[in-house]
Amino acid sequence: MSAFPTGVAVITAVDAADRPHGMTCTSLTSVTVSPPILLTCLDVRSGTLGAVLDSGAFAVNLLRADSRRTAELFASAAPDRFDRAAWRPSRLLGVPWLHADSFARAECAVKKTVDVGDHVIVIGGVVSIDQERDVPLLYGLSGFAPWPGEMAL
Ligand SMILES: Cc1cc2nc3c(=O)[nH]c(=O)nc-3n(C[C@H](O)[C@H](O)[C@H](O)COP(=O)(O)O)c2cc1C
Repeated sequence: MSAFPTGVAVITAVDAADRPHGMTCTSLTSVTVSPPILLTCLDVRSGTLGAVLDSGAFAVNLLRADSRRTAELFASAAPDRFDRAAWRPSRLLGVPWLHADSFARAECAVKKTVDVGDHVIVIGGVVSIDQERDVPLLYGLSGFAPWPGEMAL
């Protein structure tokens, strides 16, 4: 799948002790437009997945081209990820929105989960979104790159 370039998201959630969790994620897919539903596939060992399952809610933060370091930070095991990135709780569900590093943010309620091998497919209904026009960060061929084309939005 490294030969299939995608955008880059950070999936975030809050655990039962109100601690924020977040992980870089490229397995993100739209499912339906009406109602707005998307899915993401998270590793069973992920702390972020635990928070998503505990709280029943998560955020999708689509990263800007100049936020590669944040993508690397949220792919690491650094315990202080949320001290090193600007964030605020989303409007309705209170999931962490990385407002400085993302150009689009969604807050989602978990509708269904499916266990598949070492990952869990998490299907979420989009409750609200927030977005600005900016150049997306991409990931493919085992590396990060900015979107190379014209901005169509
Ligand atoms: C570009 C990129 C994409 C990634 N996509 C996913 C993904 O789709 N699902 C997943 O479970 N992990 C993915 N990861 C790995 C997680 O970001 C990484 O395991 C993270 O440290 C998990 O954090 P957590 O255990 O605190 O939740 C990706 C990593 C990178 C660098």
